[in-house]
Amino acid sequence: MCGIVGYTGPREAYPVVIKGLKRLEYRGYDSTGIALLNDGLKVYKKKGRVAELEEFVVGKNLHSHTGIGHTRWATHGEPNDRNAHPHTSKSGKLAMIHNGIIENYVQLKKDLVNKGYHFTSDTDTEVLLNFIEDIKENNNCGLEEAIRIALKRVTGAYCILLINEDDPGTIIAARKGSPLVIGVGKGEHFLGSDASPMLEYTKEVVYVNDYELAIVKPDELILKNLGNEKITPFVTKLDMDLAAIEMGGYDHFMLKEIFEQPSTIHDCLRGRLDASAGTITMSGVENNIEAFKTAQRIIIVACGTSWHAGLVAEYVIEELCRIPVEVEYASEFRYRNPIVNKGDIIIAISQSGETADTLVAIEKAKEQGAIIFGIVNAVGSSIARLSHGGAYTHAGPEIGVASTKAFTGQLAVLTMMALKIAKEKGTISNERYSKLLFELDAIPEKVEAILKSADAIKAIAEKYKGAADALFLGRGYNFPIALEGALKLKEISYIHAEGYPAAEMKHGPIALVTETLPVVFVATKDSYHEKIVSNIQEIKARRGKVIAIISEGDDVIPGLADDVFFVPLADEIMAPMLSVIPLQLLSYYVGIAKGVDVDKPRNLAKSVTVE
Ligand code: F6R
Repeated sequence: MCGIVGYTGPREAYPVVIKGLKRLEYRGYDSTGIALLNDGLKVYKKKGRVAELEEFVVGKNLHSHTGIGHTRWATHGEPNDRNAHPHTSKSGKLAMIHNGIIENYVQLKKDLVNKGYHFTSDTDTEVLLNFIEDIKENNNCGLEEAIRIALKRVTGAYCILLINEDDPGTIIAARKGSPLVIGVGKGEHFLGSDASPMLEYTKEVVYVNDYELAIVKPDELILKNLGNEKITPFVTKLDMDLAAIEMGGYDHFMLKEIFEQPSTIHDCLRGRLDASAGTITMSGVENNIEAFKTAQRIIIVACGTSWHAGLVAEYVIEELCRIPVEVEYASEFRYRNPIVNKGDIIIAISQSGETADTLVAIEKAKEQGAIIFGIVNAVGSSIARLSHGGAYTHAGPEIGVASTKAFTGQLAVLTMMALKIAKEKGTISNERYSKLLFELDAIPEKVEAILKSADAIKAIAEKYKGAADALFLGRGYNFPIALEGALKLKEISYIHAEGYPAAEMKHGPIALVTETLPVVFVATKDSYHEKIVSNIQEIKARRGKVIAIISEGDDVIPGLADDVFFVPLADEIMAPMLSVIPLQLLSYYVGIAKGVDVDKPRNLAKSVTVE
C-alpha cells in the first residue's frame, strides 16, 4: 500500500530514489512521483508506473542530494497526475509523501477551506500537509513541532516523509501503522517502506516504531516520540542480499518465487527440524510451551492467502494437538467485540507483517490479555515486533503481488509447531511423530519434483485460458487449498473463480456446472479420497470439465477427469504443501497466456497497510 523512499547524503538523490521506487513498486503502482531539493523544491509526478515517470523527467533538472519518492496505491482520489504524491503545501515550500489513511481528513479539510485554503487534489495527504503548515504558521513554530502537534490531532494510519525548501538536507519522517525503515550509511541516510531500496548501500537499519518522529540529515539521525523526547535509535543488521530481490533470470518474480519453494521450505526447516534425531527446535514455541500445552483455544487471525494457511493449520493443530482452533478474518475479528479469554493464544499469520487489519486485531487481543504468536515472513516487521513470541517463515523477500512461497513457508512453520506442541503435550504417538518428521523433511524434494513437470500445467493452462469462470473443490486438508487455488486464479488471470468444500458444492454451486465450466479438484490421496471421487462423478454426470490434482499411483481419477496432474504421495497433513504448487503454476500460466502483468495485477498491492 504505497511505497516510500527517501535519501539524503552526498550521492545524487534521483537515481537512488528511482531505483528504490522500482523495488517498492509491488506496494502500489497507480502513480509515481518524486520531490527533490536543489535550489528550491522540484516535484515531478505522473499517473502510472515508475517507468512512466522516468520518461516524463527526461531533460529535466534532477540534480539534488536530498529527495523523496512515492509509488501509490490509491485510497482517496482516483489514480491521476493530480492525486499523485508528493503533494506540496500552500506556500510551495513543503513537499510530503504519505502511506496510509487520515480518517478525519474531511473535518480537517473543512476547517482549512474555511481559512481560505484551496486544494488541488482529492487526497487526505494534501490536507494533512496543509494542516501541518497551517499549525507551523499560526503557532510560529518549527516544522518538527508543527508535525508533532498535527499528528496528535489526526486519526488513522500514516508513514510520512517531508522535505522543506528552507532546510535542504533534512527529511522529517513519522509513522503510525505504516512501515518505515531507515538505512544508516557513512554520512548518508536512506528511508524506505522496507529495506530493499537501501540494500546495496548499507546493512545497518533502524526500524522506526509507531508514534516516532525521525529527523534525518546526511550525518545525523534523531529519533523522538511525539512528546519531543529523544529515543536512542536501535540499529539492526540486515540479513538480506541483493540477489533476493532480483529476478535472477526468470521472466517474473512470481515464477521465480514459485520455483524457489524447494529452497525456501528447506530454509524454513533448516536448523529446526532434525528428523533423524526426532527433534524440532523452535525457540518461539519453546518459550511459550506451557501456554500452548494448557491453551483452551487457539485463535488464528490473518487475511487472504495467510488466512488460507490458517485454515490448513486448524485441521493440523486440532488433529495433532487436540486444541480447539478458530480461524478469523482479521478485518472481522477486530470489529466484532470478540471473546478472548486469558489462556487463549492468538496466532497472527502474515507475509508482510504489516497488514493493517491483522495488526490491529492482535493489538486488541493483546489488550485483552491473550498471548500473541506471530508467524511472519518480513523480519523486523510490525506484527513480528508486536508479538510475544513467534517464528519467521524465512522465505526471503516475496515481491510478486500474489503470495506463493510465503504460503508454503507458513504451512511448514505451522506444521512444525503442531508437531512440536503435540509431542510436548503427548497427543501424538512416538511412531507417528517420527514418521511425520521424515515426511516433512522430504517436502522440499517433492516440491522440486512437481516443478519439473511445470510444462504439463502450462498445457492445461493453455486449454482452459478462455474460461469465464472456474470452480475449485477440495475436502479436508485440501479444502483451504481449493480456496487458495481460486484466489490465485482470480487475482492473476482475472477469471472469476470460487473455492468450495467439495461436498458443499451440491448445496448451490453445482448449478453453475455446464460443459464449459472447468472444475479443479484438489484430490490427493487422503482419508476422504472415495468421497471426492463421488464428487468428481457428480460433476462429470453434468458434463463439467474436470481438472484433478491427484497423487502418484491414483488409478481411479485419471479414468474420470479430463485432465490430471500428479503430485508425489505424502501424508495428508503435508499434502497442502504439494497440491498448492500446481495451482500456483496454473494461475501463473493462465495469467501469462492472457497477457496479465502477473507481478502487478490490477487494483492490488502487496502489503495492505490500510484497513
Ligand atoms: C494473495 C495475497 C493476499 C495476502 C493478504 C495478506 O495472493 O497475497 O491475499 O495474503 O493481503 O497479506 P499478509 O500475509 O502480508 O498479511
